Parts: sequence; C-alpha cells; structure tokens
Amino acid sequence: MNLTNTTNQKITEAANFIRERIKRKPLIGMITGTGLGNLTDSMEIDQNISYSQIPHFPESTVDSHAGILLSGIIAGKSILAMQGRFHIYEGYTVNEITFPVRAMAALGVKYLFISSAAGGLNPHFRPGELMILTDHINLTGNNPLIGRNFDETGAGFTDMTSAYNRDLIALARGKAIEEGINLNQGVYVGITGPSLETPAETRFLRMIGADAVGMSTVNEVIEAVHSGLKVLAIVAITNINLPDCMTGTSIEEVIANASKAAPTLARLLTEIIKDLEK
Ligand code: HPA
Repeated sequence: MNLTNTTNQKITEAANFIRERIKRKPLIGMITGTGLGNLTDSMEIDQNISYSQIPHFPESTVDSHAGILLSGIIAGKSILAMQGRFHIYEGYTVNEITFPVRAMAALGVKYLFISSAAGGLNPHFRPGELMILTDHINLTGNNPLIGRNFDETGAGFTDMTSAYNRDLIALARGKAIEEGINLNQGVYVGITGPSLETPAETRFLRMIGADAVGMSTVNEVIEAVHSGLKVLAIVAITNINLPDCMTGTSIEEVIANASKAAPTLARLLTEIIKDLEK
C-alpha cells in the first residue's frame, strides 16, 4: 500500500469513528485557537470526544489547547468543533496538522470556521479587537498538498484566489454592524513560530502586505479549500507589533487578550450561524 492509500485509510477510520458517535451530520466544522476554547460555550453539546480516543488523530501538546472534539448545535445548526488544534511548532508535520480538516470534510462538513490568536501588524488595530481574514500569505515553508493529490477530494493545483469565502465575509461584516462589533479586516501571514518576530521580521511582514501574524490557520485553510469547504476565519488581535517601537509579548498576554475577545467573537459567530444556508 502506498503512502497516499495509507493516509486515506486513516482519514476514513477517523471519520468512521467520529460518525458512529455523533448524532447528526455536521454542517459546520469549527477550529478554536489559543484562549478561544470557550467559543463553544453557547453550543448545546451532545458528544465530547477526546482527541486521544480518535484513531490516528494527533494529540494537542500545548496547555492552552484542550484537545477535545465537541459535537452539538448552535442556532439550530450542527457543529463539530475542535477545542485545540495542532501547530507546526509542536513538531507535527503539515499533514498531521491538516488531518482533522480532512476528517471533517469526509464527514460532510460544508463550512469551516477558524479562529485563532494573532499579533496585529496594522497600526490601526488594538489588542482585544477582531480581524476577519480576507486573504493570507503562507510563510510556513509548508503546504499540505505537497507530495500527493487526492483527485477525489480536490484539484492538485488548488485555486486560492478567493480562499476566504466572499459571501461569508459579507455576512460577517453585516452581522458585525448590526451587533455593534468592531470587525477589522485584513491579510494574515502564517509563520511557524514558536519564537516571536524580531523587529526586522515585523517590518518585513508589514511591507509584504500583512495586517496580522500568527502560527496557524494557513495550512488548514489550504486543505479546506482543496476539499471544497467554505472558509471563514476570524482572529483575535492579542498584541500589537510595531517595528519601530516593539514591546515584548508573552503567552500570558496573548491568552488574556484572546479571552477578552472571545465573548464578542462567540456572539458574532452565533449571529453568522443563524443565517447560514444548510
Ligand atoms: N506573532 C505570532 N503569532 C502570534 C502573535 C505574534 O505576535 N500573537 C499571537 N500569535
């Protein structure tokens, strides 16, 4: 059996395991990032599966990530939510990081909602604010589609011209206005971390057109677009990085500001989910 078949087999086994335990087919897959695990607080949960139980699922190694898959309902829509995700800086390969996205696609998820913490590069942003991704720059030096193509799932040379679904962005912006939520928008640059950026790197990231920087998201989005999922990604800006007056950033600060933004993000996501087409 070649590598591709082995990976496909693993996806099928993980998806079958999850399918047997959840009550209904999930419409929305959700990935929550650092300090944002409680985005699922408003969910009526009917299943709670630890990643360690799911065949071939990677296990979260970071304290701020719970490592639980939740199945339930928000605003009448079925959700499969990952509390905690995997990062390249934990030592995972890009295929391990994107494994859950492929499992979600195999389960029939139509939408992928991603949240994470990010550093603000746009000087107009403030800590605790939200930014919806309109585009990304992948500087992780990785790509989940390297080395294989699953024609049955999607095109090898996946088109990334509108990776972040335009209708979902419009819906989110409309809901933010109705709810009085300040929703910034911009370009996210994905790096591997775990070291934070130097002032010179920060200047470079700003010059190449990024508004926020983080250590996740981009590879999961590539995999999701490849699998035909409609992607919405909103990050919590946890710190502001200005190259000419860099201040230090700590994980405690990142978690504290992500936690501050989480209730607003949860409210916005609930409003978006209410109007999603099944
Ligand atoms: N840089 C990279 N990733 C981050 C940051 C940052 O400043 N803040 C939160 N995630």
